Amino acid sequence: MAFADYQNEIYFDGLRGVVPRLPMTCAELEPLALAAMPPSVRSYVAGGAGDEHTQRANVSAFEQWGLVPRMLVGAKERDLSVDLFGMRLPSPLFMAPVGVLGLCAQDGHGDLATARAAARTGVPMVASTLTVDPMEQVAGEFGDTPGFFQLYTPTDRELAESLVHRAERAGFKGIVVTLDTWITGWRPRDLAVSNFPQLRGHCLANYTSDPVFRARLAKSPEDDPAAVVMLWAQIFGNPLTWDDLPWLRSITDLPLILKGICHPDDARRAKDAGVDGIYCSNHGGRQANGGLPALHCLPSVVEAAGDLPVLFDSGVRSGTDVVKALALGARAVGVGRPYAYGLALDGTHGIVHVLRTLLAEADLLMAVDGYPTLADLTPDALHRTR
Ligand SMILES: Cc1cc2nc3c(=O)[nH]c(=O)nc-3n(C[C@H](O)[C@H](O)[C@H](O)COP(=O)(O)O)c2cc1C
Repeated sequence: MAFADYQNEIYFDGLRGVVPRLPMTCAELEPLALAAMPPSVRSYVAGGAGDEHTQRANVSAFEQWGLVPRMLVGAKERDLSVDLFGMRLPSPLFMAPVGVLGLCAQDGHGDLATARAAARTGVPMVASTLTVDPMEQVAGEFGDTPGFFQLYTPTDRELAESLVHRAERAGFKGIVVTLDTWITGWRPRDLAVSNFPQLRGHCLANYTSDPVFRARLAKSPEDDPAAVVMLWAQIFGNPLTWDDLPWLRSITDLPLILKGICHPDDARRAKDAGVDGIYCSNHGGRQANGGLPALHCLPSVVEAAGDLPVLFDSGVRSGTDVVKALALGARAVGVGRPYAYGLALDGTHGIVHVLRTLLAEADLLMAVDGYPTLADLTPDALHRTR
């Protein structure tokens, strides 16, 4: 089935009087989802760093590019499949790691709902370190879709190794090490309500289920939840340097992907250190409000990465955004907040809807504009609009 078929499904449902339960655009989805979330989750998910200039710039950066239509191509069938770390994936779309997914779902188990959406769509989930349910249970819901584990590297190396080895045993297909969040950026929305979910004991299941973490506690996590938070706060943030990279490389044979790379020199250095993938992202503008949209960084990072695949996220809100990021050289494109909004409104079904709308729109854009394969999507396919 082609991704574009989602539109026929919707139109034919309409003939039976059935209209979609959820909106078709992210702009309409967002306010509904935010209204469905408890206030503390709402500010954490929707908010970003500083006055959120970077967060907005991530989104508007896509408007600075336009796809040039090509005719008489006969793009009747499109191929969106992609090779990633030796796997063939049906599309280049993936779900970026979102640490409070668990809390976004109405039943409090959003990580499991997301993993089920991955199973239903073939769109991989990058599961965060910060989940409500332990990684083994999340991976248990992936079905045939590969999943990735995102590591917030703790200062305690033994714990870091334990988390990575658990991910290996649970069947994850790659380790994504996030570099830009060893300290939390200045987030006025969360500060205004004095709320940081992990400090309230949320989303720490990967720690409380870990034998190394448990061994560091005097009592069991269940008997002393305050001690869990204290220990977590002590070990969470590790200001890694290049000197730590050989160790990270040495602890796993899984593909190692570095998230948060925005400078070509950093991409080159990571490549020299033997990583398998570069993940260009500014954390959706949640960490530093430096003002530069992640999309602007993508072409030079791609060039520096050479034959290494570059994953991208930050600001993707539509299928056309996905296509533009691909044309600028991304091998795979991640979506963040939009699928969390689908989850908040309608669980697994809500995420499936968001992913299918992104894929259908991307597929139809490639059809209408005459770019039948991902190989056709080169920078030449884009023109700057301003
Ligand atoms: C609520 C929330 C929580 C996040 N948690 C994590 C996380 O645990 N690990 C991580 O690497 N990135 C995390 N991110 C960043 C996303 O992986 C991704 O970089 C970002 O959401 C992409 O931008 P977008 O939301 O504009 O699509 C989080 C993002 C949001 C919105």
